[in-house]
Amino acid sequence: MTTNRTLVIVAHPNLAESRANANRLAEIKDLDNVTVHDLYETYPDSNIDVAREHQLLREHDIIVLQFPVYWYNVTSMMKAWFDAVLVHGFAFTFDGSASELSGKKTWLAVTVGSTPETYAADGLARRPLDDYLAPVTQTLEFCQLDYQGFHAIYGMIFETSDETLALDAKEYRRLLANSETPVG
Ligand SMILES: Cc1cc2nc3c(=O)[nH]c(=O)nc-3n(C[C@H](O)[C@H](O)[C@H](O)COP(=O)(O)O)c2cc1C
Repeated sequence: MTTNRTLVIVAHPNLAESRANANRLAEIKDLDNVTVHDLYETYPDSNIDVAREHQLLREHDIIVLQFPVYWYNVTSMMKAWFDAVLVHGFAFTFDGSASELSGKKTWLAVTVGSTPETYAADGLARRPLDDYLAPVTQTLEFCQLDYQGFHAIYGMIFETSDETLALDAKEYRRLLANSETPVG
């Protein structure tokens, strides 16, 4: 097993009131091969230090984006990070010839309010979660990152037991500790 340096970029606007994301972060905080980078904490005024972000990306082999799904999308700080950090010359060129991100693996760690049934064709959301994440995964692949899939916990708007949360966080820790990526 190869252990790589992993950067977990977290974008949750209120971790103090979070269950799923906070639980995941508590579970991985002692992992030596993982750097946790909290965007809302680092940039309370939303003024992203692009050079610092580029350096962090250069220093890691696997990039994990951790966020709750808000309105079928990433949180606003995650989107602001895409817009500021994934710039021409660093993350892509228009002829596809170069990206400093080329070949790094990437995956998503998402938390979801609704149930899996909601994301079925006959559910309220009418489409699978993959469809809603498509702009994100396309962005990552456009920047030549090697997209691996997502790790999700569903149903967070309902009473989610501590046991379910603990299982989710343990699996998250296992993936990160072993430099593995989610299946599917
Ligand atoms: C502004 C807002 C928008 C949300 N939009 C969605 C949504 O589109 N789909 C969904 O399944 N859950 C949605 N949720 C529920 C969150 O995804 C859920 O509360 C979160 O993942 C729980 O993680 P946490 O315990 O770390 O906060 C939304 C929550 C908020 C506050």
